[in-house]
Amino acid sequence: MEVIVHQDYESVGRAAARIVAQTLNSKPNAVLGLATGSTPLGLYQELVRMHREEGLDFSQVVTFNLDEYVGLTKNDPRSYYHFMRENLFRHVNISPQNIYVPSGTTDNYHAFCAWYERRIVESGGIDLQVLGIGSDGHIAFNEPSSSLGSRTRIKTLAKQTIEDNARFFDRLEDVPIYAITMGVGTILEARRILLLANGTKKAPAVAAAIEGPITSRITASALQMHADVTCLLDEAAASQLEMIEYYRWVQAKHPGAALRVSRPHFQRQIAHRMN
Ligand code: PGA
Repeated sequence: MEVIVHQDYESVGRAAARIVAQTLNSKPNAVLGLATGSTPLGLYQELVRMHREEGLDFSQVVTFNLDEYVGLTKNDPRSYYHFMRENLFRHVNISPQNIYVPSGTTDNYHAFCAWYERRIVESGGIDLQVLGIGSDGHIAFNEPSSSLGSRTRIKTLAKQTIEDNARFFDRLEDVPIYAITMGVGTILEARRILLLANGTKKAPAVAAAIEGPITSRITASALQMHADVTCLLDEAAASQLEMIEYYRWVQAKHPGAALRVSRPHFQRQIAHRMN
């Protein structure tokens, strides 16, 4: 995994936006997997700025969101659909028919989940998946003990997640108990994955995900099996990483790697060492 530590939350958002923009510039009809929550807000603000000021084009982009609360309608201000509309979709030139967010109110969840999986495949698969991480190590709503091969389905939220997310609701009792979520297996099929994390509260989960054993107790640890994951962390979220010196060393030796910048200097050095 590529681990890149930035000074603060704002720089994580800007770095993530540069990677998304680069993806869209090289593939204007890219399929993006998107996340909700506090973590990706900075990324979305930067993407909106890039759209307004630099003409970043979303006209052919297709998006699939990771999850939605069961029981909340699209227009409920606490739904993830509403979050996405307010924080990204209504500010950029994305076509409404290219937006997919799991439905929290379908009358047939089983059929809906199968359809959602099919739509991802029919759209060509996810090119770039954006992820946050829960304080319990979850990705999307794949709570501890989720199968690492799981697909889109209904999950019962962990108490820790309900408490973490209560800040978006008036009362703890209002937080839905169930969510519809892409599975770990679904996520692992994305071509490239960006994991974002900030703040000390995430530090133990980040360390377990990147450096711990692969385990369903920390579903983010399954990302270790994916060939193309970039973790963008702020200093606080990175504070419990034991190999932090190595990550900084790599970052210093290969700046711009996350942007796939090809560096003649780097190539020359490798050639020199191999000769
Ligand atoms: P947060 O949630 O970005 O609001 O911290 C992350 C998550 O639960 O995946």
